[in-house]
Amino acid sequence: MDEIRNPFSPGAGTPPPELAGRSALIDRIKLLLARVREGRPGKSALLVGLRGVGKTVLLNELENLAEQIGYKTILVEAHESKSLTALLAPSLRKLLLSLDRMENVSNKVRRGLRVLKGFVNGVKITVGDLEIGLDIEAEAGTADSGDLEADLPELFIAVAEAAQDRKIPVAILLDEIQYLSAKELSALIMAMHKMAQKRLPLVLIGAGLPVLAGLAGDSKSYAERLFDFPEVGPLAPDDARQALREPAQKEGADFTDEALDEIIRLTQGYPYFLQEWGYQSWNYAPQSPVQLADVKHATPRIIERLDANFFRVRFDRLTPREKDYLRALAELGAEPQRSGDVAAVLGVKVQTVAPLRDSLMKKGMIYSPAHGDTAFTVPLFDTFMKRAMPQLPGKGGKT
Ligand SMILES: Nc1ncnc2c1ncn2[C@@H]1O[C@H](COP(=O)(O)OP(=O)(O)OP(=O)(O)O)[C@@H](O)[C@H]1O
Ligand SMILES: [Mg+2]
Repeated sequence: MDEIRNPFSPGAGTPPPELAGRSALIDRIKLLLARVREGRPGKSALLVGLRGVGKTVLLNELENLAEQIGYKTILVEAHESKSLTALLAPSLRKLLLSLDRMENVSNKVRRGLRVLKGFVNGVKITVGDLEIGLDIEAEAGTADSGDLEADLPELFIAVAEAAQDRKIPVAILLDEIQYLSAKELSALIMAMHKMAQKRLPLVLIGAGLPVLAGLAGDSKSYAERLFDFPEVGPLAPDDARQALREPAQKEGADFTDEALDEIIRLTQGYPYFLQEWGYQSWNYAPQSPVQLADVKHATPRIIERLDANFFRVRFDRLTPREKDYLRALAELGAEPQRSGDVAAVLGVKVQTVAPLRDSLMKKGMIYSPAHGDTAFTVPLFDTFMKRAMPQLPGKGGKT
């Protein structure tokens, strides 16, 4: 069918034509935003879900909603190789300055900037272009100890007090939270603890792979009390149908029920794959409605495309031994597996492959749904691994 009118949008963070199946979650966060704005307690939210389920798309949507009801927002994406400080400081600076754009200069906002300057000095980051404010002296003794778990809460308090003074609530949206170190995450949790205690109008909405399992002791119990962890999962069959059918119908086209059933079976309702199958089947079908046969014909090409990009970019970042580990994991199936079983497939001891498991976790390829369990973060990655490496690596973990 007409490729120009193709409504589907496979891609990282690309807004879908129809944001299906997320209204309950969105309503929940709207309520949180409304409560925090009124100075009422609310648990901040960390959206957790696997790759390609639509977390980034949701964060963007939630940022818009927050702005619509008067929030100032910052949205940042964590990186493997960038510290939380380097990530937050420039956007917090911008936020503080924007709070001050109105007529009167606010003392609280000035103080926020001074504390931020001290914070940056304290952790001694070298962010070349991070000039906090030329005419501003750092406030000595606040948020400048160099210990993130002490400094971040003080910084958040100063920022939130500035916001409160301006009667403008603040939302910090943080994507890819799994890349934060345990220390950074725990500093963030402590900071949010302060926000809750002081009823300050600053809310955190994070998104990422499931991270809780990586936290220990106090941090973990704090986190459980302070945050909600709404799960962003695959779409239920009816929502998946809607994600495909609505956009098609808006273009005056449709899918047959059999075609939809087949796409749902193949994609298991995972949003990224729904977009990919929707997009390619649309292009493949000679006319509307898209038929089961069209989907069947398009499927091998779609899998080839996924293998060549969506899966391949992740595969290419792996060392040969990491690939072996994932291939062994794939051998056991798509579900979470015991680490000992993976080691057994490789014919080695658990301790031998523990560093591999760690580095794969840091790269965001696997996560630990429960202590000692290991699972893929990318849906359907097990089937890809078997296609990419038909042979199971030899016992003894050679290579
Ligand atoms: N509710 C939805 N309905 C239909 N399509 C969706 C939905 N949510 C996301 N998508 C589509 O899924 C794809 C992936 O979305 P997104 O990049 O937000 O996922 P993600 O969870 O952030 O993935 P990653 O963990 O890799 O960053 C995009 O093509 C997007 O258009
Ligand atoms: Mg994302």
